[in-house]
Order: sequence, then C-alpha cells, then structure tokens
Amino acid sequence: MPTAALSTVELAYIDRGAGTPVVLLHGFPLDHTMWSAQIDALAERCRVIAPDLRGFGQSSLGNADPERGVSMEQYADDLAELLDALSIGEPIVLVGFSMGGYIAWQFVRKYASRLRALVQCDTKAAADTDEARAVRLKMADNIFEWGAARVAEIMGPKLLAARTFESKPEVVDAVRRTVARTSPAAIAAAQRGMAARPDMTSFLPQIRVPTLILVGAEDGISPAHEMRTIAAAIPHAEFAEIPEAGHMTPMENPAAVNKALIGFLSVGIAHH
Ligand code: MLT
Repeated sequence: MPTAALSTVELAYIDRGAGTPVVLLHGFPLDHTMWSAQIDALAERCRVIAPDLRGFGQSSLGNADPERGVSMEQYADDLAELLDALSIGEPIVLVGFSMGGYIAWQFVRKYASRLRALVQCDTKAAADTDEARAVRLKMADNIFEWGAARVAEIMGPKLLAARTFESKPEVVDAVRRTVARTSPAAIAAAQRGMAARPDMTSFLPQIRVPTLILVGAEDGISPAHEMRTIAAAIPHAEFAEIPEAGHMTPMENPAAVNKALIGFLSVGIAHH
C-alpha cells in the first residue's frame, strides 16, 4: 500500500481507478479491507480512495496519545490532509461506515465545500448513552492487557447477522482476523474518541448534498429504524435497507451494497 506522510501522521491508502473521487472510511476496529468488494466494483467507474484511519491497518498513530483519544474531527482533518497530499481538489463522494460515519459527519460539517455527495452506512448521528460510553472506556482502559483477539471475540457476534455465522464463514473469519490484528493503541484511542463524540442530530437538516443512507436489515448496533430517522432529517436523502446483513453490510451483502452505491453514483448524484 502507498503511504502519505502528513503533518502529524503517516496514512496508508488504496487509490484505484479514475474519475470522480469516492472515499471509503472504514469502521472500528477494522481497516480498508472491509471495503474489498466495493473497491473492486467502484474502481471500474470512479477513483476509489480507501485509507486506513490513523492507527488502524497499516497507518501509524502519529502524534496521537491513546490515553487522550483521537477525536472524530481529527480523523476528518487527516482525510482533508490526505486529499491535499493526493492533489484532489474536486469535491468528493464520501462513504462512511459506522465509526467512519461518525468521522464523515465531522468532515461534512467542517469541509462542506470539498463534498459532492454523502453515503452513510450502518452509523449513528446521536452521541453515546452513559452506558455505551462506560463500555468504551472500560475497553480503552483494559485493551493492552486484553489484546485485540479478545475484542474480536466480544464484538464478532454484534457485528454480524446470525445468518452470516451459518452461511458465510469466510466473512466471519475475515472480520475476526482484521479485528484481532488491530493495534491496541488504535483501539484505545478510537474508543476514547468515540466516547467523546458530539451528538450530530441537530446538524442533519443542514446537510445540503445528495445523501444515501444504507443499513443492514439486521444491524444490531445502528438499527434500521434509527437510520430511517436520520434519512428523514436530511433534506436530500435516499434510504435503502439491505437484506441479509447485520452491521457489516458492505461485507455481508456486497452485491446489494454495490448496486445501491453504483445506482446512487450514476443517478442519485446526476440529478443534483
Ligand atoms: C464500528 O463498526 O465502527 C463500531 O461498531 C462503531 C461503534 O463502536 O460505535
């Protein structure tokens, strides 16, 4: 993977294809490989950029301190710098998944002029409940002792639909392997950042770009009914519920996700 040396971090990224830049932001605690099927499909018609976020995959943690956490805004700033490093001045289509979605809200808020369209998959606009925050901070406090393999055991059942465990063992394996090789420092930093993330619900009506909201029908982390409410609050949003998928929709039902993305890129955006 190529890497870009930015002011406070070195980011690894995929850069394939030509045309409209489409940026894919992965979830927690994962890396760009969760987008493999989308990278292959989209690179035939646009330029796909899929970074490993600060600390994840092959990217460094840079100047971040796992004890203080990395804010969602910081990851968004990293993306803006990466686009500069790649000389991408034209507005991008930003696709955020879960934590990548929390980051995408910050990118929309701060860098609206760099955005052509937005896709949010299996994510939330609300901040954490006190209970969810406590779970995150407990993981952040203990991760160096636990190791990432334990996180893979804890999170695996929540990330995937029950049917995926039965019918797609290769997807279960891929998710488990990715989580298990994630750096404990990245896990602590991101959990602290997510625990402190702002509630973006009141911001949604201000989003002016064409938006697609995607969610797995069996997502137990960011449920479909909650994502439908997000779509209703954004002025130009379409909503699609993807069958046969839990939280990891892009991996659990890649064909349906690719179809929705390609439809949005060719029709949804063109109408605006
Ligand atoms: C993710 O998939 O990015 C995480 O489940 C997000 C979260 O922990 O809220």
